[in-house]
Amino acid sequence: MDCKKLRNWFRKNAAELPWRLSDLDAPRDPYAVWISETMLQQTQVSTVRDYFTRWMKRFPDIETLAATTEEEVFKYWQGLGYYSRARNILKTAKIVAEGATQKFPQARKELEALPGIGAYTAGAILSLAFHQQEAILDGNLVRIFSRLYAIGILPVDSKEAADTYWDYAREVADSPKAYMHNEALMELGRTVCKVKNPECTSCPLRDTCRAHLENRTAEFPPSKKHIQKDWHGTVLIIESSDHKILAIHGGQKFFKNQFTLPHFESPRSATAGLPAQAESYINTDHVAVVENIGIFKHNITIHKIECDVLHIKLSSKAPVRNKLAKTAHEIQWIERSDATEFFANSFCLKALALLKP
Ligand code: ADE
Repeated sequence: MDCKKLRNWFRKNAAELPWRLSDLDAPRDPYAVWISETMLQQTQVSTVRDYFTRWMKRFPDIETLAATTEEEVFKYWQGLGYYSRARNILKTAKIVAEGATQKFPQARKELEALPGIGAYTAGAILSLAFHQQEAILDGNLVRIFSRLYAIGILPVDSKEAADTYWDYAREVADSPKAYMHNEALMELGRTVCKVKNPECTSCPLRDTCRAHLENRTAEFPPSKKHIQKDWHGTVLIIESSDHKILAIHGGQKFFKNQFTLPHFESPRSATAGLPAQAESYINTDHVAVVENIGIFKHNITIHKIECDVLHIKLSSKAPVRNKLAKTAHEIQWIERSDATEFFANSFCLKALALLKP
């Protein structure tokens, strides 16, 4: 990742937020980082702003917080939801304030041992407050890494996925500027590399983002709906004695809004003879030859397709009608010599390529 571009972008675009200092390079108060990042874990920045400001007025430091009651803490958390967060904040405040040093520990292991502080919050406190080269990982960073490197590991919450994303997060944090890289990525995820409609044209990482370069941002991070599905089918090239090929509009698995070759799902190698589906399109008394002319592979969205291609030759000329009595779908008979131009999609072209001259 080009961290320099990321930093330059952040210096220009960092929003003014109550937990941010105007000097983006100044170490922050660990207490403020802890409170803001805990609030931000399940709640949007726009909501957290006012809650954070009110909280810091009432509980300006960890000692004040540790001396208060749960009831009072809830008053200032009311509306943020996930109240276990507030309960844990008070528990941790008491542990820290009553500890020997009355200060936040500065080691990941000790921080993560405190109630409500996980790998993300620990990384945020260590990097943003203590300027340690410690990584963070949240949904924003996962989305960015996933798109940048076209990582499609499923499920997204698997150990394999977490290990991969943490490796990238550690790489980014392996710098004296880890504090800025971490926060810049969160900001980028929130404002540019958004879940929906990412604004790739304003992204400082667009030149090397695989998802962007391959026009596939919507595929990352992957979700269950992106799991590839195998689809095996049969494509029919039905040819009249005057060398016209049947094209159909409607009622097909792929290409719902354009003419295509008839196709249907079928088990592998189950294409001996004339399939029953052909009866929907032609008078089977006029079938002269049925030949399996080969197989092609093709991908459409999540479908990993493999199709047998049946060449069905008729003993009669193409009928002059454009509705099929049995299906009401529209059909056209296309001159074989015009077929490649007419069926201008690779699915059909791959089937047609198997026709013998
Ligand atoms: N989301 C969570 N923490 C954030 C931060 N520090 N800056 C921007 N967005 C965030």
